[in-house]
This record gives sequence, C-alpha cells and structure tokens, in this order.
Amino acid sequence: MNEPIQAILVGAGQRGSDVYGAYALKHPEQIQFVAVAEPNEERRARFASQHKIPAQNQYPSWDPLLEHPRLGQAALVCTQDQQHTAPALAALHAGYNVLLEKPMATTAGECRQLVATAEETGQQLHISHVLRYTRHFQTMREIIQAGDLGDVVTVSHRENVSWWHMAHSFVRGNWRRESDSAPMILAKCCHDLDILVWLLDGHCERLSSVGGLRHYRPENAPEGAPHHCLDGCPVRDTCPYYAPFIYEDLLPLWRNFAEGAKGLPRWMAQAQERAPGLVKALGKVLPDVRQVSDYRGWPCSVVAHDPTPGNVRAALREGPYGRCVYHCDNDVVDHQVVAMQFEAGLSVTLTMHGHSHVEGRFTRIQGTRAELQAVFGFGGSWIEVGFHRSGEKKRYDTSDANSGHGGGDDKFTAAFVKSLSAGDDAAALSTARQALESHLMAFAAEEARLEESVVRMGAFR
Ligand SMILES: NC(=O)c1ccc[n+]([C@@H]2O[C@H](COP(=O)([O-])OP(=O)(O)OC[C@H]3O[C@@H](n4cnc5c(N)ncnc54)[C@H](O)[C@@H]3O)[C@@H](O)[C@H]2O)c1
Repeated sequence: MNEPIQAILVGAGQRGSDVYGAYALKHPEQIQFVAVAEPNEERRARFASQHKIPAQNQYPSWDPLLEHPRLGQAALVCTQDQQHTAPALAALHAGYNVLLEKPMATTAGECRQLVATAEETGQQLHISHVLRYTRHFQTMREIIQAGDLGDVVTVSHRENVSWWHMAHSFVRGNWRRESDSAPMILAKCCHDLDILVWLLDGHCERLSSVGGLRHYRPENAPEGAPHHCLDGCPVRDTCPYYAPFIYEDLLPLWRNFAEGAKGLPRWMAQAQERAPGLVKALGKVLPDVRQVSDYRGWPCSVVAHDPTPGNVRAALREGPYGRCVYHCDNDVVDHQVVAMQFEAGLSVTLTMHGHSHVEGRFTRIQGTRAELQAVFGFGGSWIEVGFHRSGEKKRYDTSDANSGHGGGDDKFTAAFVKSLSAGDDAAALSTARQALESHLMAFAAEEARLEESVVRMGAFR
C-alpha cells in the first residue's frame, strides 16, 4: 500500500473544497492536503480546519505558496477560468504534479504553453475532463468501439443547460462575462467537444458555428421589473427566474432531479414539492431523506458560504444571485451550434443552449447497423441501442450517483492519485495533451461564430 499523496490546494472554492477536499476527507489513505492558498478568509479557515492544515501552511494567494520549497507531490489548481495558467505553470516549475480545472486556459497559446511546460519539467498535468471517467460515456465508447453500431455516420450531441442553471451560472454568476471567464463554448462545452473526440477516436477536420445571446437582455425585462427580485418585482408570482423560487424553494432543482431519478430519491424529490412538511418530518428520523429536506449544496452553497435560510435571503437581497436576469451585466451566448466534419466524412453537431426544461446531455449516434440514443441526466442516465436487422433494443442503465457529474468527479480524482502513485500517466484519460484538441476546437468554434467562417482544423492547429 502506497503512502497517501501529499497535496496542496490553490483555490478552496466550490471545486477545490466541495469536490477534491471532500474526496480527500473520504479517502485519507489516498490523498491528504498539507497546504492551502485562498484569499477568502472564511473559505481558507474552513478548509484548513477540515484538513488540519497548520497555520504556517495557510496562504492568502498561490504565489507565496509556490515560491516556498515543495510541500508535497501534487498541486490542485481550482481557481477561476482566467486564473489557471499562472499558478499551474508556477506549480509545474516548483516540481508539483498538477490537477488543473477545465478549461485548462482561455487562450490557445496558453494551452500550448501548459502542455509544453508539463513535458519540459517532466511533471504530470491532468485536466478535469471528468466525463471521460463516467460509466455513461465509457459504456457509450465501448459500444462504438465494439462495432455494435456498424460504421458511425452521424452524431448529434446536445448540451441542454436548464433555464435555471443558465440563469445561475451564465447570467447572474461567475461565467456570465467572457472577459471575466471564457466564451461559453469553451467554459461549458470543452467537456462536450472533448467527449466527442474521445468517443469517435478521431479528429475534427473542419467546423463552423452559429449562435448568440437571444433572451437574457434588458429589452426582454417585464415592465417595471426592478434590478433585484426582492425589490418588489411585479411578476414575482409568475417569472420562472424569481430568485427565491430558485434558491429558497429549490423546486427547479428537485423537479429536474426527479426526472432522471428512481425509487426513494425520486419519491423524495417529488414529495419536496407536494408535501415539504412530510419530507421535513421524515428527515428527522431518516438520514437519507435529510439530504432533501436539509439540502445546502449547489447552487445554494455558491450563493452563500454558509447557506442557512437567513444567509441565503440576505445574499438574494444584496448579492449577484438576487439580480433580475434581464438586468445583469452578462454577455455570453445562450445558444450555440457547432457543425463539424470528422475524419472519414463523419458529420457531427453539438447544440448548446440555456433554455432547457430539463438539464442533461443527449446524444444520438446513427451507425450503419444500429442507432444509439442516450441521456446523461441530473438524477440518472441511460443508453439505448436499436439494431436495424433484428429490431432488438438493448438498454443500459448508466446512472452513478456516487459523486458529481455522474460519478466522474471521484473517478477522475482517483485516477489522478493512481497516476501519481504509479509515477506514470500512461493510463490517464485526461492529460493536458489529451485535452488540448478539444480546447483548440472550442477556440476554432468561437472564431467561426464571430467571423461567420468555416475553420479548417489542420491549419488552425
Ligand atoms: N470539471 C468540471 O466539471 C467543473 C465544474 C465546475 C467548475 N469547473 C471549473 O473549476 C474552476 C473553479 O470553479 P469554482 O466553481 O470552484 O469557483 P469558485 O469561485 O468557487 O472557486 C475559486 C476559488 O479561487 C480562489 N482564488 C482567487 N484568487 C486566488 C489566488 N490568487 N490564490 C488562490 N486562490 C484564489 C477564490 O477566492 C475562490 O474561492 C473554474 O475554472 C470552473 O470553470 C469545472
């Protein structure tokens, strides 16, 4: 049995703390955090206390931590999109193996620089393309590779961002402005472009793209709507975006969850709308039910550090998540389509939009012998293959509720630890070099959308 990996954390926000921090607390025999850099005092103190990090290893920013002699084998860089390159490069130069959040960087030049620096320093650099590690997409890839579909002719993949997730992250939240984060096709869809490249095991030869910001604009605001929902909005009883409806009642979250879930989780999510008092009472005796009745996770945990009902209400009164969706300073698109031609003449489309009733990735693949349809959902996932000759339909339940992103979050972290313990990333699925292609496709798609052009990937690469 190997000793646990000693790790440092850069950015103790939602991903750093709630995903990787939580993983280390569940698996102390695999990975332990020995230092943290985080400017927000409350988050830094909470992470340090959870992981028993001594005061001298708590830093207000990544730069002094990475100037310090190396404190472990791994650095997990979980800052916001525009703050990935500098700490990741510094960590590689300081001799750390790095887990870097996606997107790896917001320019093609920086992505290439990261890949080159990992190769020059000999350190491992893993990008959090967690979907490659899910049961769902691994099963889909196995079906394609086994030849069950015959030759794949065309793929349509949809990233259906629900209307309330769109409002939360891309209208009111951290990814609303391209200059502060990244174009939506990179921020949200580098995962999707990556999974297409991986599923099809091939390269995109050319692509074009259309899209824009259609709905979340001031001219679409209902008459008399104030800048904050709680300032007496005249449409508070009918507007789906009314902030207390999304963050206090949490009905959009539970309705969406119930769509894909089964059994008790589905019943609980539905009962939360019809009989919240009953769910609360059952939660007093059944710990599983408390996960619904006392839910304090995403997106509430983003609205307030300690999302008690009082803190959430206060944050909605003053903070960004209480803003009217028509009066924000957002500029990223709310819909975009990318049309791609892959090797061997295969045609592929990706549709991303922020107006879905239900959150989820839908994939449809037509082959010469069978067709595959799949849903990667919030509460559960499935794949169905229909065979042309026999008429048989084969269904796979690919749900995995063991961690976020259909189980991908924990499996990716486990694979990172395993690669470090082995001293070799040969078995890893999302090294920086593997992630580069999808990032370049996202930059190309944005160029094609803005310039109304067709981009040939050979020249672009
Ligand atoms: N892999 C995925 O599927 C996935 C999902 C969601 C988000 N992300 C990505 O993860 C990254 C982090 O997202 P998040 O939601 O955790 O954001 P967050 O804002 O919750 O966390 C970022 C943290 O970095 C801290 N920070 C800022 N400046 C710093 C500095 N100089 N030194 C150290 N820390 C600093 C912030 O205070 C904040 O706590 C983003 O790039 C996001 O796009 C990836």
